Amino acid sequence: MSIIFSENDRVFTLHTKNTTYQMKADKHGFLLHLYYGRRTEGCMDYLLTYADRGFSGNPYDAGKDRTYSMDVLPQELPCQGTGDYRNPAIVIKNTDGSYDSGFRYKGHNISEGKYGIPGLPAVYASGDEAQTLEIYMEDAVTKVQVTLLYGVLPELDIITRSAVIKNAGTGKIYLEKAQAACLDFVNGDYDLISFYGRHTMERNVQRMPVAHGTQSVGSRRGTSSHQYNPMLVLAGSKTTEDAGSCYALSFVYSGSFKGEAEKDQFNQTRVLLGLSDDLFSYPLEADDVFYVPEVVMSYSSSGLARLSQNLHICFRTHLCRGKYKDCVRPVLLNSWEASYFNFTGESIYQLAKHAADLGIDMLVMDDGWFGKRDDDYSGLGDWYVNEEKLGESLGSLIKRINSLGVKFGIWFEPEGVNEDSQLFREHPDWALTVPDRNPVRSRYQLVLDFSRKEVIDYLFDKMCRVLDQGNIEYVKWDMNRSLSDCYSRGTKDQGRVQYDYVLGLYDFLERLAKRYPDILIEGCSGGGGRFDAGMLYYAPQTWCSDNSDAMDRLFIQYGTSFGYPMSAVAAHVSAVPNHQTGRITPFHTRGTVAMAGSFGYELDPGKLSEEEKQQIREQIQNYKKYAPLAQNGLYYRLSDPFRDEISAWEFISEDASEALVSAVMLEIHGNMPVNYVRLKGLEAGAMYYEKESKKTYAADALMETGIPLPVQMGDYHAYQMYFTKV
Ligand code: GLA
Repeated sequence: MSIIFSENDRVFTLHTKNTTYQMKADKHGFLLHLYYGRRTEGCMDYLLTYADRGFSGNPYDAGKDRTYSMDVLPQELPCQGTGDYRNPAIVIKNTDGSYDSGFRYKGHNISEGKYGIPGLPAVYASGDEAQTLEIYMEDAVTKVQVTLLYGVLPELDIITRSAVIKNAGTGKIYLEKAQAACLDFVNGDYDLISFYGRHTMERNVQRMPVAHGTQSVGSRRGTSSHQYNPMLVLAGSKTTEDAGSCYALSFVYSGSFKGEAEKDQFNQTRVLLGLSDDLFSYPLEADDVFYVPEVVMSYSSSGLARLSQNLHICFRTHLCRGKYKDCVRPVLLNSWEASYFNFTGESIYQLAKHAADLGIDMLVMDDGWFGKRDDDYSGLGDWYVNEEKLGESLGSLIKRINSLGVKFGIWFEPEGVNEDSQLFREHPDWALTVPDRNPVRSRYQLVLDFSRKEVIDYLFDKMCRVLDQGNIEYVKWDMNRSLSDCYSRGTKDQGRVQYDYVLGLYDFLERLAKRYPDILIEGCSGGGGRFDAGMLYYAPQTWCSDNSDAMDRLFIQYGTSFGYPMSAVAAHVSAVPNHQTGRITPFHTRGTVAMAGSFGYELDPGKLSEEEKQQIREQIQNYKKYAPLAQNGLYYRLSDPFRDEISAWEFISEDASEALVSAVMLEIHGNMPVNYVRLKGLEAGAMYYEKESKKTYAADALMETGIPLPVQMGDYHAYQMYFTKV
């Protein structure tokens, strides 16, 4: 049993294989957090301390007890109005205009399996893989009910949190802030690791001590964003990849979010993650229910590598769905960097011919095949095939490509619209714009109002009409700007638009996945602008970045690896000089870097030499050999590219019988010291044979001192080493 309720002291204990989470409904009915960390037994309510603290208010029912204050006690559901002045998880504007709530414990329920959330993505698990705890909280005055949901997946060391808020009162209320997870720590020095970036340079790693005050990251862009990822790691200040305590919080949501880390007046730490409260004021009429998207949490007492692996396994096996979830994904040739908007059916066919010759599985026709779309100024929204440009019907093009033995995939951006499009001319009110105000343009496009069902219905129908024209086996779902002008003609409550937009997006994606269960959906938002756990529920891989430069990708993929499995990272070999940086890197290096993810090409093979084409053939064979290991194995970061001269990583099978180690030189200097790559996770005492060097090595020495990387003349050399246990 992973969830235990102790009747006497009203303590809830959640156990996973290696972790324990504990909380208590105390004598006043507040739900206090007791413990989250390494697995343990017993009741930890001795951790609660009480003292008369000046300017820390006391709930009325504490009577004369001035030592009882919510400003100091660790909680599961901190809210406005209890005398807690730290960051709240939930804020409600009541019917009478007040902002106070006081949620108290009313009861609970423990059930087998993992809860789901209507209309929202969530981790799933069967009855014997998970348990769910629902804790019912109520505000006695307003009758608002909050059901806190805890999903416990013991084998994966995963605990999920979500909440259902019901207006059981009689008047209209507004939800002003709703965060799914709150972690309160009574002591300890922590660092907050967050992932910031920009278009073409996503998920850089920032590690900062949690200091007095609040450090907050988030997005108010309506998408999870390139700028901050909805994933946080809280690590002990001395925690490393291999040792020490750390916690992960990952938001299963693709819209605006907020993460906060605060050190309070008594050096206690609070971390919150959930919906952004900017542009958020969600109306709930009597009996309305609101679902807070879930946060996936994990704890590791043995460093960051294990923490990442916990998330990887959970997302790969209990969040991704569909036919491609467990498969090695097809190797793609994407037309974007090969020809941008400049193509015809015949030139796409020629790319497919190269694909067939090189052993590439699938040709993806990117942006430019629909409407009047020869640049990004027009056509977006007009989802009918431009047969004039293609010179043939889509069906005939797909047939010709399939007859080469090559699969066919296609690009869409259903959320976007150009003002110069038939759709916008017919339905200008379908775009998010504020009346009497000029909208903010971005990439010369506007955003369609996905909070409205009629908009989605229309687009879904148009998309199906295209998808039904032939054997389409892959869709790239793109989204090329941030939301602005969040005003919908479908409602009077504009504070609901961003959330409803995301619900609309999920509804669309769910319909798509249901109607086309065999289509592989790849998420994309100008590369990695919506790389989040929410999208993984619908699209098991995401184009990781519009930056395909192998050197930059090392950093982007390093940051991404903290929270997401490498099978979710779409990574392609592109031409040199690279189109985003102008950098020239060796072909082998580009292949090695792209093989850290779901692999493909982003170039015109017609422009390559015979020698390079031969390299592609070999690269693909190589990739296919190692892909099952990369897909299912454990991932280790072997260096920190932000600090080291090399970038190195490892995939190792769970039984440690085989490992693929990749390393890339980031720098080259005269008379350079040797870099050693230390392996991880090998079986102590065992011997390993390495294919390239044809040598056998002792596991302990490989893990202790490592293996020297030969110093080679020239920039950016890459090395791949494949070890098998002998
Ligand atoms: C975005 C994507 C690219 C490409 C273009 C097409 O930037 O990330 O891969 O599809 O759009 O316009």
